[in-house]
Amino acid sequence: MSTPHIKAEKGDIARTVLMPGDPLRAKYVAENYLENAKLFNTVRNMFGYTGTYQGKRISVMGSGMGMPSIGIYSYELFKFFDVENIIRIGSCGAYTDQIGLYDVLLADCAYSESTYAAVQSGEDKGPYTYPSKSLNERIEAIAEDLGTPITKGTIHSSDVFYRENFEEFKRIRDEHWAIAVEMEAFALFHNAQVTGKNAATILTVSDSLVTQEETSPEERQNAFTNMMEIALRLA
Ligand code: HPA
Repeated sequence: MSTPHIKAEKGDIARTVLMPGDPLRAKYVAENYLENAKLFNTVRNMFGYTGTYQGKRISVMGSGMGMPSIGIYSYELFKFFDVENIIRIGSCGAYTDQIGLYDVLLADCAYSESTYAAVQSGEDKGPYTYPSKSLNERIEAIAEDLGTPITKGTIHSSDVFYRENFEEFKRIRDEHWAIAVEMEAFALFHNAQVTGKNAATILTVSDSLVTQEETSPEERQNAFTNMMEIALRLA
Protein backbone atom coordinates (compact mmCIF):
# COMPACT_ATOMS: atom_id res chain seq x y z
CA MET A 1 0.00 0.00 0.00
CA SER A 2 1.60 3.21 -1.10
CA THR A 3 0.16 6.64 -1.81
CA PRO A 4 1.75 9.39 -3.88
CA HIS A 5 3.39 10.81 -0.75
CA ILE A 6 3.81 7.91 1.67
CA LYS A 7 5.67 4.76 0.70
CA ALA A 8 4.84 2.25 3.45
CA GLU A 9 2.78 -0.84 4.20
CA LYS A 10 -0.50 -0.36 6.09
CA GLY A 11 0.76 -2.23 9.13
CA ASP A 12 3.89 -0.06 9.32
CA ILE A 13 1.95 2.85 10.81
CA ALA A 14 0.36 2.87 14.29
CA ARG A 15 -3.25 3.90 14.99
CA THR A 16 -2.02 7.09 16.61
CA VAL A 17 0.36 9.45 14.81
CA LEU A 18 2.05 12.49 16.33
CA MET A 19 2.72 15.17 13.71
CA PRO A 20 5.28 17.90 14.18
CA GLY A 21 5.69 20.23 11.20
CA ASP A 22 9.38 19.52 10.83
CA PRO A 23 10.37 16.00 9.68
CA LEU A 24 13.65 16.37 11.60
CA ARG A 25 11.54 16.85 14.72
CA ALA A 26 9.90 13.52 13.94
CA LYS A 27 13.37 11.97 13.66
CA TYR A 28 14.39 13.56 16.97
CA VAL A 29 11.30 12.20 18.75
CA ALA A 30 11.82 8.74 17.28
CA GLU A 31 15.49 8.65 18.28
CA ASN A 32 15.05 10.11 21.75
CA TYR A 33 11.68 8.85 22.97
CA LEU A 34 10.67 5.71 21.09
CA GLU A 35 11.96 2.20 21.48
CA ASN A 36 12.67 0.11 18.38
CA ALA A 37 11.78 3.03 16.11
CA LYS A 38 11.56 2.02 12.46
CA LEU A 39 11.59 4.52 9.60
CA PHE A 40 8.53 3.93 7.38
CA ASN A 41 8.60 6.91 5.00
CA THR A 42 11.32 8.84 3.23
CA VAL A 43 9.36 10.23 0.26
CA ARG A 44 10.32 13.95 -0.01
CA ASN A 45 12.27 13.47 3.24
CA MET A 46 8.97 13.63 5.12
CA PHE A 47 10.26 11.14 7.68
CA GLY A 48 7.81 8.92 9.52
CA TYR A 49 8.72 6.42 12.25
CA THR A 50 6.88 3.81 14.26
CA GLY A 51 8.10 2.53 17.62
CA THR A 52 6.84 1.98 21.13
CA TYR A 53 6.47 4.35 24.06
CA GLN A 54 5.98 2.71 27.46
CA GLY A 55 5.19 -0.49 25.61
CA LYS A 56 2.52 1.06 23.37
CA ARG A 57 2.85 1.39 19.61
CA ILE A 58 2.92 4.95 18.25
CA SER A 59 4.06 6.73 15.07
CA VAL A 60 5.55 10.15 14.51
CA MET A 61 5.71 11.83 11.12
CA GLY A 62 6.35 15.34 9.78
CA SER A 63 3.45 17.29 8.24
CA GLY A 64 5.36 20.08 6.51
CA MET A 65 4.22 23.67 6.84
CA GLY A 66 0.78 24.97 5.93
CA MET A 67 -2.65 23.51 5.21
CA PRO A 68 -1.94 22.13 1.72
CA SER A 69 0.90 20.06 3.18
CA ILE A 70 -0.77 18.74 6.36
CA GLY A 71 -3.91 18.30 4.24
CA ILE A 72 -2.16 15.77 2.02
CA TYR A 73 -0.38 13.79 4.73
CA SER A 74 -3.24 13.65 7.21
CA TYR A 75 -5.75 12.62 4.53
CA GLU A 76 -3.54 9.79 3.29
CA LEU A 77 -2.89 8.56 6.84
CA PHE A 78 -6.57 8.59 7.78
CA LYS A 79 -7.95 7.25 4.51
CA PHE A 80 -5.36 4.74 3.28
CA PHE A 81 -3.31 3.66 6.32
CA ASP A 82 -6.09 3.07 8.88
CA VAL A 83 -4.79 5.78 11.20
CA GLU A 84 -7.41 6.69 13.83
CA ASN A 85 -5.82 9.60 15.69
CA ILE A 86 -3.51 12.40 14.58
CA ILE A 87 -2.12 14.77 17.16
CA ARG A 88 -0.41 17.80 15.72
CA ILE A 89 2.43 19.00 17.96
CA GLY A 90 3.52 22.38 16.70
CA SER A 91 4.50 25.92 17.48
CA CYS A 92 2.48 29.12 17.33
CA GLY A 93 2.64 32.88 17.72
CA ALA A 94 0.72 34.48 20.61
CA TYR A 95 -2.00 36.99 19.75
CA THR A 96 -2.49 38.27 23.31
CA ASP A 97 -0.25 39.32 26.18
CA GLN A 98 -2.13 36.84 28.37
CA ILE A 99 -0.03 34.13 26.74
CA GLY A 100 3.72 33.87 27.29
CA LEU A 101 6.56 32.28 25.37
CA TYR A 102 6.75 28.49 25.95
CA ASP A 103 3.16 28.24 27.17
CA VAL A 104 1.43 25.05 26.04
CA LEU A 105 -1.88 25.62 24.22
CA LEU A 106 -4.63 23.19 23.28
CA ALA A 107 -6.84 24.12 20.31
CA ASP A 108 -10.54 23.74 21.05
CA CYS A 109 -11.45 25.41 17.73
CA ALA A 110 -9.57 26.49 14.60
CA TYR A 111 -10.55 29.64 12.73
CA SER A 112 -9.32 30.20 9.17
CA GLU A 113 -9.88 32.36 6.08
CA SER A 114 -8.68 29.33 4.12
CA THR A 115 -10.89 27.75 1.44
CA TYR A 116 -9.39 24.33 2.31
CA ALA A 117 -12.52 22.86 3.88
CA ALA A 118 -14.98 24.24 1.31
CA VAL A 119 -12.82 23.06 -1.60
CA GLN A 120 -12.05 19.67 -0.07
CA SER A 121 -15.62 18.58 0.59
CA GLY A 122 -17.59 20.92 -1.68
CA GLU A 123 -19.50 22.23 1.31
CA ASP A 124 -18.85 25.54 3.00
CA LYS A 125 -19.55 24.99 6.68
CA GLY A 126 -18.03 28.30 7.74
CA PRO A 127 -14.67 29.44 9.03
CA TYR A 128 -14.34 27.13 12.06
CA THR A 129 -13.33 23.48 12.45
CA TYR A 130 -13.05 21.50 15.68
CA PRO A 131 -10.82 18.85 17.27
CA SER A 132 -11.99 15.56 18.77
CA LYS A 133 -13.66 16.20 22.10
CA SER A 134 -12.48 12.90 23.56
CA LEU A 135 -8.85 13.42 22.51
CA ASN A 136 -8.91 16.90 24.01
CA GLU A 137 -10.33 15.56 27.27
CA ARG A 138 -7.58 12.94 27.44
CA ILE A 139 -4.91 15.55 26.66
CA GLU A 140 -6.20 17.79 29.45
CA ALA A 141 -6.22 14.90 31.92
CA ILE A 142 -2.66 13.88 30.99
CA ALA A 143 -1.42 17.49 31.26
CA GLU A 144 -2.98 17.76 34.70
CA ASP A 145 -1.35 14.50 35.73
CA LEU A 146 2.05 15.73 34.56
CA GLY A 147 1.54 19.14 36.20
CA THR A 148 1.89 20.96 32.87
CA PRO A 149 -0.45 23.97 32.70
CA ILE A 150 -2.35 24.11 29.44
CA THR A 151 -4.40 26.96 27.94
CA LYS A 152 -7.41 26.13 25.76
CA GLY A 153 -8.72 28.40 23.05
CA THR A 154 -9.43 29.18 19.42
CA ILE A 155 -6.35 29.04 17.18
CA HIS A 156 -6.04 31.01 13.94
CA SER A 157 -4.80 28.77 11.11
CA SER A 158 -3.32 31.23 8.64
CA ASP A 159 -2.30 30.68 5.01
CA VAL A 160 0.17 33.54 5.27
CA PHE A 161 3.17 33.87 7.56
CA TYR A 162 4.38 37.26 6.26
CA ARG A 163 1.43 39.68 6.06
CA GLU A 164 1.98 43.11 4.51
CA ASN A 165 -0.41 44.49 7.14
CA PHE A 166 1.09 43.12 10.35
CA GLU A 167 -1.56 44.80 12.53
CA GLU A 168 -4.31 42.74 10.90
CA PHE A 169 -3.79 40.07 13.58
CA LYS A 170 -5.57 42.33 16.08
CA ARG A 171 -8.77 42.30 14.05
CA ILE A 172 -8.65 38.49 13.73
CA ARG A 173 -7.99 38.15 17.46
CA ASP A 174 -10.87 40.47 18.37
CA GLU A 175 -13.43 39.17 15.86
CA HIS A 176 -12.75 35.46 16.28
CA TRP A 177 -11.38 35.24 19.82
CA ALA A 178 -8.18 33.70 18.46
CA ILE A 179 -5.44 33.44 21.08
CA ALA A 180 -2.59 32.37 18.79
CA VAL A 181 -1.64 31.71 15.16
CA GLU A 182 -0.24 28.67 13.36
CA MET A 183 -0.83 27.29 9.85
CA GLU A 184 -2.25 23.73 9.97
CA ALA A 185 -4.95 22.88 12.55
CA PHE A 186 -7.99 23.96 10.48
CA ALA A 187 -7.21 21.51 7.64
CA LEU A 188 -6.28 18.70 10.00
CA PHE A 189 -9.58 19.01 11.90
CA HIS A 190 -11.53 19.12 8.66
CA ASN A 191 -9.85 15.96 7.33
CA ALA A 192 -10.60 14.12 10.57
CA GLN A 193 -14.24 15.16 10.31
CA VAL A 194 -14.73 14.02 6.68
CA THR A 195 -12.96 10.69 7.24
CA GLY A 196 -14.69 9.99 10.59
CA LYS A 197 -11.38 10.01 12.49
CA ASN A 198 -9.92 12.00 15.41
CA ALA A 199 -7.52 14.92 15.54
CA ALA A 200 -6.12 17.30 18.12
CA THR A 201 -3.56 20.12 18.13
CA ILE A 202 -1.15 20.94 20.95
CA LEU A 203 1.12 23.96 20.49
CA THR A 204 3.98 25.66 22.27
CA VAL A 205 4.32 29.40 21.93
CA SER A 206 7.48 30.21 19.97
CA ASP A 207 6.90 33.92 19.40
CA SER A 208 4.53 36.73 20.28
CA LEU A 209 2.95 39.12 17.80
CA VAL A 210 2.14 41.42 20.72
CA THR A 211 5.54 41.74 22.36
CA GLN A 212 7.54 40.64 19.27
CA GLU A 213 9.70 38.40 21.50
CA GLU A 214 11.10 35.24 19.95
CA THR A 215 12.55 32.05 21.38
CA SER A 216 15.94 30.57 20.62
CA PRO A 217 16.23 27.09 19.11
CA GLU A 218 17.54 25.64 22.42
CA GLU A 219 14.68 27.16 24.41
CA ARG A 220 12.20 25.86 21.86
CA GLN A 221 13.61 22.38 22.29
CA ASN A 222 12.95 22.41 26.05
CA ALA A 223 9.43 23.74 25.69
CA PHE A 224 8.81 21.12 23.04
CA THR A 225 9.68 18.40 25.55
CA ASN A 226 6.70 19.27 27.80
CA MET A 227 4.29 19.14 24.89
CA MET A 228 5.85 15.92 23.57
CA GLU A 229 5.43 14.11 26.84
CA ILE A 230 1.74 14.91 26.92
CA ALA A 231 1.30 13.72 23.33
CA LEU A 232 3.33 10.50 23.75
CA ARG A 233 1.16 9.41 26.65
CA LEU A 234 -1.81 9.32 24.29
CA ALA A 235 -0.35 6.09 22.89
N1 HPA B 1 2.61 32.81 12.45
C1 HPA B 1 2.21 31.70 11.84
N2 HPA B 1 2.59 30.51 12.24
C2 HPA B 1 3.41 30.42 13.29
C3 HPA B 1 3.87 31.55 13.96
C4 HPA B 1 3.44 32.81 13.52
O1 HPA B 1 3.81 33.85 14.07
N3 HPA B 1 4.70 31.14 14.96
C5 HPA B 1 4.73 29.80 14.89
N4 HPA B 1 3.95 29.35 13.89
